[in-house]
Amino acid sequence: MRKLTIFLILLFFGFTPAYVKADGATYKGVKKCKTCHIKIYKTWKKTKHSKAFDQLKDAEKKDPKCIECHTTNNDPNLPGIHCEVCHGPGSKFSSAKIMNKKKYKANPELQRKLAVEAGLIIAPDEHTCKKCHNERSPHYKGFDFKKRYEEIKHKNK
Ligand code: HEC
Ligand code: HEC
Ligand code: HEC
Ligand code: HEC
Repeated sequence: MRKLTIFLILLFFGFTPAYVKADGATYKGVKKCKTCHIKIYKTWKKTKHSKAFDQLKDAEKKDPKCIECHTTNNDPNLPGIHCEVCHGPGSKFSSAKIMNKKKYKANPELQRKLAVEAGLIIAPDEHTCKKCHNERSPHYKGFDFKKRYEEIKHKNK
């Protein structure tokens, strides 16, 4: 029993990967990101991702089978595909302690490192998209990442 306990403790502390600091991070919603990333917000707002929840009829808005892919983190209070669906839950990395232009002006790499440790996904890829753009979607018509990415990318930097 004691050995097992020690093993479990080791498993917990010893072998957990580096992203453990992001454990318990929660979703803040697009309003949080908007405060600093206003240009990207405006581009995003024009994509259908921002209105994905509006596609659902009233009953469907309560149907777990639909809200899974039409909200952020299964939460109808976060309707649509917010930033954090692709970039990770932001409660930790979006704090002004980490995402701070002045503080890290001389060392943006450190800022990036801290943000990633706090859960930021800098470069979402094909796998991120395919959580929703897949055969389980009633409206699936195939998904070509490169092509579809061009349609939603944050052009205005
Ligand atoms: C307090 C202001 C602030 C908030 C709030 C904020 N950011 Fe940032 N973010 C920054 C700054 C400053 C940078 C550094 C790069 C730059 O100057 O654009 C940055 C960088 C990033 C990067 C790029 C990292 C890189 O190195 O290329 C991503 C992605 C990002 N933020 C996503 C988000 C998301 C998603 C949210 C909301 C959950 C968010 N940010 C909230 C200020 C903020
Ligand atoms: C596995 C994820 C997933 C699930 C589950 C899902 N959807 Fe979607 N839905 C999508 C994606 C992705 C699109 C966008 C398709 C595209 O543009 O490639 C979409 C598009 C739509 C559209 C827009 C019409 C169209 O042709 O693009 C409607 C309406 C819709 N979904 C309704 C629903 C309803 C109702 C449910 C529940 C029965 C549901 N969806 C469940 C992912 C999903
Ligand atoms: C559907 C997924 C998705 C959503 C939603 C999304 N992004 Fe991104 N974001 C990406 C991808 C993909 C990249 C490009 C990464 C690369 O080029 O390596 C990116 C890049 C970025 C960057 C760094 C590069 C740049 O263009 O400046 C920032 C900052 C950023 N996103 C912020 C945001 C904010 C803020 C929101 C919400 C308003 C948001 N993103 C919504 C997928 C997404
Ligand atoms: C959480 C689920 C989800 C994820 C993850 C997701 N999408 Fe979507 N996407 C949707 C839904 C739902 C729609 C349909 C919205 C509508 O028709 O109103 C959609 C629509 C789109 C559209 C049509 C946008 C427009 O304005 O016409 C493109 C292009 C797209 N997604 C690309 C991507 C790419 C690229 C990624 C990954 C970087 C991605 N999506 C990640 C759910 C998702």
